[in-house]
Amino acid sequence: MKVLVTGRLPDTILALIEKNHEVDINTQDKPMDRQKLLSKIGDKDGLLCMITDCIDATLLNQAPNLKIIANYGVGFNNIDIDTATARGILVSNTPGVLTDSTADLAFALILATARKLIEGDRITRAGEFKFWAPLHFLGQDVSGKTLGIIGLGRIGRAVARRAAAFDMQVIYCGRQRLEKDVEKTLNVTYADFKTLLKTSDFVSLHVPLTPQTNHLIGQNELEQMKPTAYLINTSRGPVVDEKALFKALKNRVIRGAGMDVYENEPELTPGLSELDNVVLLPHIGSATIETRTKMARMAAENLLAGLNSKIPPNCLNCKALYDKG
Ligand code: NDP
Ligand code: DGY
Repeated sequence: MKVLVTGRLPDTILALIEKNHEVDINTQDKPMDRQKLLSKIGDKDGLLCMITDCIDATLLNQAPNLKIIANYGVGFNNIDIDTATARGILVSNTPGVLTDSTADLAFALILATARKLIEGDRITRAGEFKFWAPLHFLGQDVSGKTLGIIGLGRIGRAVARRAAAFDMQVIYCGRQRLEKDVEKTLNVTYADFKTLLKTSDFVSLHVPLTPQTNHLIGQNELEQMKPTAYLINTSRGPVVDEKALFKALKNRVIRGAGMDVYENEPELTPGLSELDNVVLLPHIGSATIETRTKMARMAAENLLAGLNSKIPPNCLNCKALYDKG
């Protein structure tokens, strides 16, 4: 069958797909151009796409043979699942294999913001580290502080586990409260959204991007946070109103932020990169060799299952497809 792969994959994984299928792959180290994607999808049976590809109704309507969309990523806000389901197309993602890498990065942002790591590196390289002094470069302790996790799913829980090693108190909120024994095992306490914002020293976002979480954090929410608090975002950019965050950081409404994702990625809100109280990373939550290899394998296995009319191990819409008959 004919397959389109929109980003580079390790050779061994690509070979798995090429064994029985004809593969058209984007070998450039940048997202496939939208027009190119549209022009290539027409005769394809399978699509292994990147989170940067917008798989919308326009594209799906030009793909009459498509059986499976295997997303290379856990977040799937780039795919119009309802249209795919209506068209009988399977959709899959790559959950779990990137949980630890992403949680590590969220924690790295917590430490980097509170302890001014990036600023410290910058001044040291610039030759501005002249002497040690008791009041130089004072950050904030992470140990003993309160971490508020919004969205205690796979990654949120992995962040909570890391926080326990730092003697942090972890509170969380979400659409529903977890069972008491799960809370006990994870050593977390439920708080409603408002209380979490008001009492956390660090607020870390781990929700998917959905219509409900779009701009979950805006001016109003930032104003409810402690003036000494930090916001950490490794989820999706539009979960935060970036213009409101920029203003809050500039006016010291909150103390700082650590960001891996942006509202109009890869564009930044003008002025954001000039602030010294924000750490900015280029969407690298899952970017380790081990994790990206596991993601590639998982996406390929999902793709191959779909092409072989089997249920992909990480199917997102199987229930809806089967309920539909
Ligand atoms: P999960 O589905 O395991 O966790 C998401 C959590 O968010 C669940 O607990 C879910 O709870 C909760 N949630 C969903 N909707 C809402 C809402 N409206 N309000 C409050 N809570 C909500 O996903 P993962 O932990 O695996 O991944 C989370 C997200 O992280 C991904 O969707 C992706 O966008 C992002 N990500 C970013 C990476 C990066 O490189 N920076 C890497 C990997 C992931 P419920 O039980 O109610 O559904
Ligand atoms: C995801 O998987 O959703 C990330 O954003 C990239 O790994």
